[in-house]
Amino acid sequence: MALTRRRLLEGAAVGTAGLVVGGVAGKALNEGDGGGGGGGGTTNLGGKAQEVINARKLAAEDVTRAVQSFVPPGRGDMDDFYLISSGGHSGQLLVMGVPSMRILKMIGVFTPEAWQGHGFGSDSSEPVILAGTDAKNKRTSPSRGPLTWADTHHPALSETNGEYDGRYAYINDRANGRIAMIDLRDFKTKQILDVPNLESSHGGCFVTPNSEYVHISTMTPTLVDDSDIDKALDNFSKVFRGFSTFLAINPKNGRFDLDRSFQIELPPYTQDLADCGKGESEGYAFINSYNSEMATGGNLEGKESLEIGASKNDYDMLHIINWKKAEEVAKAGKTKQLNGMRVIPLDVAAAEGVLYLAPEPRSPHGVDVAPNGAYMTVAGKLDPHVTVYSMAKVLKAIESKDFEKQDQYGVNILKFDSVVAGRVELGAGPLHTQYDDKGYGYTSLFIESAVAKWSLGEPYHSGDKAFKLVDKLAINYNIGHLCTMEGDTMKPAGKYLVALNKWSIDRFPNVGTLKPQNFQLVDLTGEKMELISDTPIGMAEPHYVQAIRRDRLKGWEVYPPGTNPLTMEKDPDAIELGKEKIERKGNMVEVWASVKRSSFKPDIIRAKLGDKILLHLTNVETAPDATHGFAIPRYNIECSLDAGEVTNVEFTADVKGTFAFYCTEFCSALHLEMQGWLLVS
Ligand code: CUA
Repeated sequence: MALTRRRLLEGAAVGTAGLVVGGVAGKALNEGDGGGGGGGGTTNLGGKAQEVINARKLAAEDVTRAVQSFVPPGRGDMDDFYLISSGGHSGQLLVMGVPSMRILKMIGVFTPEAWQGHGFGSDSSEPVILAGTDAKNKRTSPSRGPLTWADTHHPALSETNGEYDGRYAYINDRANGRIAMIDLRDFKTKQILDVPNLESSHGGCFVTPNSEYVHISTMTPTLVDDSDIDKALDNFSKVFRGFSTFLAINPKNGRFDLDRSFQIELPPYTQDLADCGKGESEGYAFINSYNSEMATGGNLEGKESLEIGASKNDYDMLHIINWKKAEEVAKAGKTKQLNGMRVIPLDVAAAEGVLYLAPEPRSPHGVDVAPNGAYMTVAGKLDPHVTVYSMAKVLKAIESKDFEKQDQYGVNILKFDSVVAGRVELGAGPLHTQYDDKGYGYTSLFIESAVAKWSLGEPYHSGDKAFKLVDKLAINYNIGHLCTMEGDTMKPAGKYLVALNKWSIDRFPNVGTLKPQNFQLVDLTGEKMELISDTPIGMAEPHYVQAIRRDRLKGWEVYPPGTNPLTMEKDPDAIELGKEKIERKGNMVEVWASVKRSSFKPDIIRAKLGDKILLHLTNVETAPDATHGFAIPRYNIECSLDAGEVTNVEFTADVKGTFAFYCTEFCSALHLEMQGWLLVS
């Protein structure tokens, strides 16, 4: 921590120096910065541009940065990439543009979000959130549930042939072992799954190269035997287990298909980051672990704290999983049923060659597979090196049974020297690695607050050019994850890198004691990395992002008329204009209403206290952006209806009075008149 603080202070000093340099702005600009050889476009600026540069005391490099990331009004198409970002503790997903770094949308996922009417009474969102808590199989507080927040960590985009296909995004909940599915046709959440046997999950979220499965694994191991909870931590190695989950994806709609899904039981080593094999390593998956000591803490009970107990061994264990083999083993029925999930028991996984272990420097964090699948880079938080494993060596070692020994669960451990291709010393606190299109890795250095650029081996770089540190860039401050454009795929685009920084301290205007996170955009087009911009994220701590080329996403402009977003099909209760009606059956009042600029029809709904009310609302608009809202005061109901959308709202009229329901989107000049009455007598 002392080291971190010192680095931060050094960083702050550099920042101040930067401001002073800014004072001699215009001069540097006139010398012609060019900004990466664009043909000298910045040297002959017109009068006003130069006046602004002088008045704002901008240096030439500032102007270059501004031009690199500026998007002119009306030119949204100049953002070449979307960032699909974790929304951190907000429980949501962020969509941003690159290089502008503008936040385009916050998608409601695990947490109710009022603008989108997500979780406020609409049948296209509330059931999604409610179904996201499995109160039967998993321990959830009855008085505090259902769960309405999540610590969103790892977005994972669907892939075809190892490239993003722009169809679906998945994101896990670190806190509760859940995962959500977002359809990228309408950028809305369609499903939240409370994954059986997972009490937490961290970075174990990825999609296989042809979207067969989305993977999610435990972080804190799960208690599998609750017969003596007082002694559970003393019997940790016996009563806790990790789980690697392969959730089958329905190819038609992107949803989880539990019947075809399976889990692999793992030793309780605290599995952490995971990545999927591809190319040379297709069919395999890799998961780090950082507590093979199986320490449990207990610092007030006379035991070591977890941070000491979990850092004793020189090595932790890289898990190497043959998921294609696991698929066969599951198909052959060599599974047990556990809370609605097929589970391959640990001894079966070890015996069938589903699971192998390889030593990795202690307390590792990231494991990241290179674009060609030939290398897996592991960064140990307490080791200044990254360790690069060779898939060819792993396969050879498995084939020749070149094992060091077995662990206490009977899992074969490969020899470190037999599977490592190279090690590169990068700096203090390496965490995560991303790749570009030229055979370089970019590793975040948390303690040093920097990004290190280094070279991979064959076929990218050979001889003494391989596995070398080539550049380093200071980051502000405390970088966690980082993301290169399409860097998780078989065909990274390079160009930019986004650093997700935990601390921003002096980078933004003061907004009180809780500071925004800082997303820093870095230019990767030259030999040396160059910082382009800082972007404050003032709504939680995003954990990880993926970047996808803009042209891969084909979002709908409007829904086909009468679409229910939950099914993405025509809702049976969709209506056309003129078909509005109210029917009463017993104590049920059923309403088919049209919604358009600038009226609801019907605009008066009459009910008796205690009646059930079922509203079918159809937005009959066909113009893009013609969204209406529907809110009933005091009933906690708020829906968003995009053009063509249908939503159904069911509630009990249990408060007497007159309630002026209204449209919550400023849709037209007569938006205020878009109002009606619910009378409950
Ligand atoms: Cu519809 Cu305002």
